[in-house]
Amino acid sequence: MDAIVLLKEDHKTVEKLFKQFEKAGEDAYAEKRKLVDQIIEELTAHTYIEEEIFYPTVRAEAPEVSEHVLESIEEHHVVVWMLSELKNLDPRDERFDAKVTVLMENVRHHVEEEENEWFPEVRKAMGRNRLQELSDQMAKAKGKAPDEPLAVPSAKQ
Ligand SMILES: [Fe+2]
Ligand SMILES: [Fe+2]
Repeated sequence: MDAIVLLKEDHKTVEKLFKQFEKAGEDAYAEKRKLVDQIIEELTAHTYIEEEIFYPTVRAEAPEVSEHVLESIEEHHVVVWMLSELKNLDPRDERFDAKVTVLMENVRHHVEEEENEWFPEVRKAMGRNRLQELSDQMAKAKGKAPDEPLAVPSAKQ
């Protein structure tokens, strides 16, 4: 396991939940609530370990991707605020599906940039051993991740 593989696994987990949401019936309110709660939990933990460990380490050790990291933090900021709104939004509210749709668009765009535009540069700059070390640290931090989206650092930045 290395840090980038670990993050990509999270991305896959979230994409699966998105697909399930897209397949859920319009009035499958209980199912949609459950899926969105899982999406909130996964994305909160994921953005947390990226912001606590992966992003700062990458900025220090692969400064050439700093601009990508800064853009990613801004994207996280929007995502965690949307998560916090969805936490308290009734799935029967007319804005619920629309908010989830825009969340999915934002996250898919973000993941695409991470995986295709700058993770490959990070892999080149940091190498396998360093990424393996980092993955241990991130796996540990995941256990300490908050369940409140606004507790992720970028929410208040
Ligand atoms: Fe991210
Ligand atoms: Fe990510």
